Parts: sequence; structure tokens; C-alpha cells
Amino acid sequence: MYPLNRNRRLRTNEAIRSLVRETNISPQDFMFPMFITEGKGVKTEVPSMPGIYRQSIDGTVKEVKELWSLGIKAVNLYVKISDHLKDNTGKEAWNKDGLMQQAIKAIKDAVPEMVVMPDVALDPYSIYGHDGIIENGEILNDPTVDALTKMSISHARAGADFVAPSDMMDGRILAIRNGLEENGFHNVGIMSYSAKYASAFYGPFRDALDSAPKDTRVKIPKDKKTYQMDFSNRIEAIKEAIQDVEEGADIVMIKPGLCYLDIVREVKNVVNVPVAVYQVSGEYAMIKAASEKGWLDQDAVILEQLTAIKRAGASIISTYFAKEAAKLLG
Ligand code: PBG
Repeated sequence: MYPLNRNRRLRTNEAIRSLVRETNISPQDFMFPMFITEGKGVKTEVPSMPGIYRQSIDGTVKEVKELWSLGIKAVNLYVKISDHLKDNTGKEAWNKDGLMQQAIKAIKDAVPEMVVMPDVALDPYSIYGHDGIIENGEILNDPTVDALTKMSISHARAGADFVAPSDMMDGRILAIRNGLEENGFHNVGIMSYSAKYASAFYGPFRDALDSAPKDTRVKIPKDKKTYQMDFSNRIEAIKEAIQDVEEGADIVMIKPGLCYLDIVREVKNVVNVPVAVYQVSGEYAMIKAASEKGWLDQDAVILEQLTAIKRAGASIISTYFAKEAAKLLG
């Protein structure tokens, strides 16, 4: 009998296709990254990210309410602070009245159920734009971990549900976990950016926060390759993720998304915690730019990419398309 299998039967119409669909995405899979700036009534579009804004806390809170009404249950927070608050220690990062701490409080007051995950890394606070403290041209690991621990405790005190270290220093998950426990924050979780690659796709994000490694009189590394991962590596990502789980991470994240879906699947197969993926700024910018030119069907591409990320093994996707996707799915 020919052909033995007619696979097209299961593709005959949308009803049967939806019945056999292996991967479904929904708004509760998404987290929305938000850029927060000082002031009141401030809302500036990020030039390389059309539709994404740097906003003061008032506007951010309004948007959080909108996100909640769209079914989005988590936000990732990033701040842009004034240059005069930056130094090489990052100490503004654990100022109890700092911009991040105020933002966390304001969001939790307005929408208490929203899962708030502030970014833990020194780059927005560093005069050099690096994720760590620098000495003699080197990013110091252990002093940076101490700073990140203080920062995490301060976020917890402000009301964060999770802290999300994105710095790639060694040993920081254990140090942060211990710091949180010692201060009574047993219920504050850690979403670790476990496999974060040194990627050119972060360009628009660094525009948004003005956080690119700076050209200064002091000699500093011009890229983040001594801490973020080499994009040629696969086994190393598995090692990073397993170590972070052993150190106490509740969720591990892979970043960026699309170019790293092989890594997502491999990590998913070896860890027993949820895997998150960050579809980063450059990925957003590419889709926006091509759509604006009429070269891609934006809505279709958004849903295809987010589904592919979930299919690869992500339980949670951090995406600048969260609102658009939620509307498309709604
Ligand atoms: C910094 C940080 C970066 C991103 C998230 N946290 C940039 C970097 O590592 O330089 C990038 C996110 C994006 O591109 O959307 N700790």
C-alpha cells in the first residue's frame, strides 16, 4: 500500500492542526523587560527599539497595570541612573532609596501580584559600563560578588519577588542565596542568567541604558568576554547551569534566544528547574526593522519565534514583544 503514512492528514485544517499542536504559547509564558529612568512624566522611546520606552516610575506603574490586564505575570526591571551616581564600586545599587528600590516598591504597591524581578548587575551603576568592579584593567570577581549580594538584599528589602543576577561572576548565586537567607528573605527567589553569552545582540539595550563599556582614560576591557560566555561553547553552558542550580538558583536563564536554542534544549534536558530564555534587544530590533521595511510580517514572525523558543525548552520567555504577543493571542 502506498504511501504507508499520509502525514498530511494531521495538517488538513486548522481544527485538526490545533488538536495535535505540540507547543502552545500564552501570555503567562512571558516576562516583560522594562527600562526605568529618573524624574516624573518621562517617556523616551529607545531609538533602536521602536515601541520600547525608558520611563519614569509613574509611567512604569501604569504600564505594569496594563501588562497585568493582558495576562502578563512578571516584569524584569533595569534602571538608567544619572552619571553623577556612578562610580567603580556600584554602591548606588544598594541605596535603599535608589531608583530601582523605589520602582520595586511602587510596582508592588500598585499591582501586588505582579512577579517583580530586578536585574542584579553593576553595569548601570559603573562609570566604566562593566558588570564588575575594576582594578588594573581587570574585572574583580569576589569583590563584585560582595556588591551583588548587598544589591540583592536591598532589592529583597524593597519587595522584589525574585532577584535576577545577569553579571556572570563566579559563585554569585551561592553568595546571594546565603545573603538572602541570613537576612530572612527565604521566599525571595533567584533567576540566574546562567548561560549569558558575550553577544553583539545586546547593542540596543546598551543604548537604552547608556551602559556600553566606556572609553576612559583608565585602561579597561572594551568588551565583556572575560565574564560573559564565548558563543562558540556548548558544554560550558551546561556546566554553568548545573552549577547555578547547585548553588541555589530557582530558575536558570539562557540568553540571547534565537541563536542559542540548541543550548536551551541541552540545558532543559539536564536541569530540574524551569528554564527561561531572554529574547534580547537586538533580536527585537531585527524584527522591528525588517517589519518596518515591509520585508517581514511582524505578527507572524513574533508568534513563530516565541513558539520556537518554547518548543526548544523554555518555560518562561523574557521578551520585548510580550504585550504585542499577548494581544495577538488574546
Ligand atoms: C547587563 C545586561 C545586559 C542585558 C541584560 N542585562 C547587557 C549586557 O550584558 O551588556 C541585555 C538585554 C538585551 O539586550 O535585551 N547586565
